[in-house]
Amino acid sequence: KTKTSDFVIDDSLVESIFKPRQEFSHKGTYGRATLVAGSYGKMGAAVLSTKSALRTGAGLTFTLAPQCGYEILQTSCPEAMFIEGGTQCIDKFEVEKDSVCGIGPGLGTRPETEKSFLQFLKKYSKPLIIDADALNIISKDDKSLPLIPQNSIITPHPKEFERLFGSTENSFKRVELARKKAKDLQIYIVLKDHHTQVITPEGSVYYNITGNSGLAKGGSGDILTGILTSFLAQGYSEENTAVLSAWFHGKAADYAAEKYSKEAMLPTDVIHEFGNVFEELNRRTA
Ligand code: APR
Ligand code: MG
Repeated sequence: KTKTSDFVIDDSLVESIFKPRQEFSHKGTYGRATLVAGSYGKMGAAVLSTKSALRTGAGLTFTLAPQCGYEILQTSCPEAMFIEGGTQCIDKFEVEKDSVCGIGPGLGTRPETEKSFLQFLKKYSKPLIIDADALNIISKDDKSLPLIPQNSIITPHPKEFERLFGSTENSFKRVELARKKAKDLQIYIVLKDHHTQVITPEGSVYYNITGNSGLAKGGSGDILTGILTSFLAQGYSEENTAVLSAWFHGKAADYAAEKYSKEAMLPTDVIHEFGNVFEELNRRTA
């Protein structure tokens, strides 16, 4: 057995990762983020993940979505650029070479989406953020797992994890299985839960302790995908992206719960607290 380390994502770790914005900079300094998301009836997932990338500081944000989401996205996210990837669902995964892609929120699992996504994976070799229906598509065939580019970050919730890798008796055994899979596939696994775990390709585990049950609502995962895509686009390493994003997402949710209650807070409110989290990070690293 190789020796691995486990960590708690505490304030000092986060402060050591966070890079404050440089005054002498321009949009090119902060990278390009592309959210590949949405299908008819699930365009909200594309909106939430796009807004989340916009509000975490990416230099340019794109959304690759089906044509039926054109007006929705251009109206609700005017700062993002729209790339058409199909009619009712995405069936063309054509992404710009210079951008970091987060794929999956609200994608759906229609046959044309599945086929085209798997074809895209066969040719693509840069690290991706892979979530939701993109993970569900990969789950359908064991042969798809090795197509995930090395150093990608996948973000399964417990059910998606089970679809990908099989069931486990309890959450301790689930982490052990995640260590094995992260090593085998050389990827980062963000295992989403009350205490989200970030598992590295070396098999180390970071435990996140921010966040609350106000996040137990549809759309919370979509905003995590936006955060991850944006931080990776801004040049954080994959490991730092995964650790910082898990903490950031939970921290924003804690601010939202204080203001609105865990019951009433919405993922949109969590996005609106991102500014407070950045202010806190800037204050503490000043
Ligand atoms: N405490 C702390 N954090 C929580 C809690 C909790 N009790 N419940 C959920 N969260 C956090 C998780 O850690 C994760 O970051 O909220 C997020 C939930 O993500 P998802 O489970 O992906 O939820 P959702 O946004 O609804 O996903 C939308 O995509 O994954 C599919 O099947 C899913 O259709 C759904 C869609
Ligand atoms: Mg989800």
